Amino acid sequence: MKAFVHEYGELKVKDVQDPVAGRGEVVVHLHVAGLNRRDVGLPNRRGRTEDTLVLGSDGAGVIASVGDGVTRVKVGDDVIINPSLRWEENSDAPPKEFDILGMPDHGTFAEKIVLSAAQVEKKPEHLTWEEAGVLALSALTGYRALFTKGQVKEGDTVFIPGAGSGVATYLIQFAKNIGAKVIVTSRNVEKQRQAKELGADIILDTASDWTKELVNETVDLVIDSVGQATFNRSLEVLKKGGRIVIFGATTDDTVDFNLRQFFYGQYQLFGSTMGSRQELIAMLEHIENFKTHPVVDQTFSLDEAAKAFEYLQEGKQFGKIAVRMN
Ligand SMILES: NC(=O)c1ccc[n+]([C@@H]2O[C@H](COP(=O)([O-])OP(=O)(O)OC[C@H]3O[C@@H](n4cnc5c(N)ncnc54)[C@H](OP(=O)(O)O)[C@@H]3O)[C@@H](O)[C@H]2O)c1
Repeated sequence: MKAFVHEYGELKVKDVQDPVAGRGEVVVHLHVAGLNRRDVGLPNRRGRTEDTLVLGSDGAGVIASVGDGVTRVKVGDDVIINPSLRWEENSDAPPKEFDILGMPDHGTFAEKIVLSAAQVEKKPEHLTWEEAGVLALSALTGYRALFTKGQVKEGDTVFIPGAGSGVATYLIQFAKNIGAKVIVTSRNVEKQRQAKELGADIILDTASDWTKELVNETVDLVIDSVGQATFNRSLEVLKKGGRIVIFGATTDDTVDFNLRQFFYGQYQLFGSTMGSRQELIAMLEHIENFKTHPVVDQTFSLDEAAKAFEYLQEGKQFGKIAVRMN
C-alpha cells in the first residue's frame, strides 16, 4: 500500500507492506487523514533515523478486516480513529501508558492502518469523509480544554487568541453551541472574517490593545495555545479569579509572568492535552446533537502530502487540512 513516511530525515510517499489485523485489532481502509501541528514537528524530533514511520494521528475510513475476538465493529463499518491511545476513563491527567497515534506507532497517512479495535468509533453520519478525517485530535483537545478543564457554561465569556488554529475553530463552535460568548483574535483580516462567520461574537486584531478593546467585557475563561506571544496579554484580559487553560505553545514554550499579580488576581491556570476515550465519546455526542461541521480549509491528495505539510507551516489555514487517500 501507499503511505507518506519519514525515514533517513526525509518525508516521502512510499510503498509499504499492507497491515494485518492481529487478535483484538482491526484494519481500517482510510479515506481521509487529518493534518496536525504535531505531524509537522515530528520529523525534527526524529532527525535522520533510518526507521520508517508512517506519520499522522487523525483519520476516517471503513473497517477492512477484523482480528480474532473483535465484536464491537465489523467489516464495512464507517469509523473515525481515536488518536489518544490507551486513555479510557476521564482523569486529571493521562495514564502513563498513554501515547498519541503516529509515533511511535505507525499513523494515518496511508491507505490502511492496523490498530486496536478499542481505538475506533462510529463515524457521525452528518459528516463528510473530509470532516470526519480531520475531527478527532483537535476536537478532542478543544473539548477537554473547554469543558473538562475550562468548565465553561452557558452565559460565560471565553477569550481565544489565534482564531485560525484548527483547535480554535472547534473551540469557537463548541462554546457557541452551549450559549457562551466568544471573543477571538487573529493577525489576519481574512481569518477575522471567517471567525465572525463561524459565530465568534467579538473579533480583535491580535496587534490591538486588548484591555482597551475589552474594557466593558468580563472574560471568565481564556483558552490560549499560541504561547509566549500571547500568554501575558491573555492573562491581562481575564477577570480576577478566572480560569486560563493552556494546551499548546505555537510561538514558544517559555514565558515570564508576574507571580504577585497572578496570586493577587487569584487566577487559575490549567494544563490540558488531548483527552480520554470517554471525552471523545462525549465530544462525538456533542457534534451529533448540534450537527457541528469541522472547518476544512483545504484537501490534498496523499501524493501531495508534503505540500500539505508546507501549507500548515506557512500558517495561512483557517481550520483543518485534510489528506485524501484516493
Ligand atoms: N496538547 C495537545 O493535545 C494539543 C493538541 C492539538 C494541538 N496542540 C497545540 O496547540 C497549538 C494549536 O494547534 P493548531 O494546529 O490548532 O494551530 P496552529 O496551526 O498551531 O495555529 C496557531 C495559531 O496561533 C496564532 N499565532 C501563531 N503565531 C502567532 C504569533 N506570533 N502571534 C500571535 N498569534 C500567533 C495563529 O493565529 P492567526 O493566524 O489567526 O493570527 C494561528 O491560528 C499548537 O501549538 C499545537 O501543537 C496541542
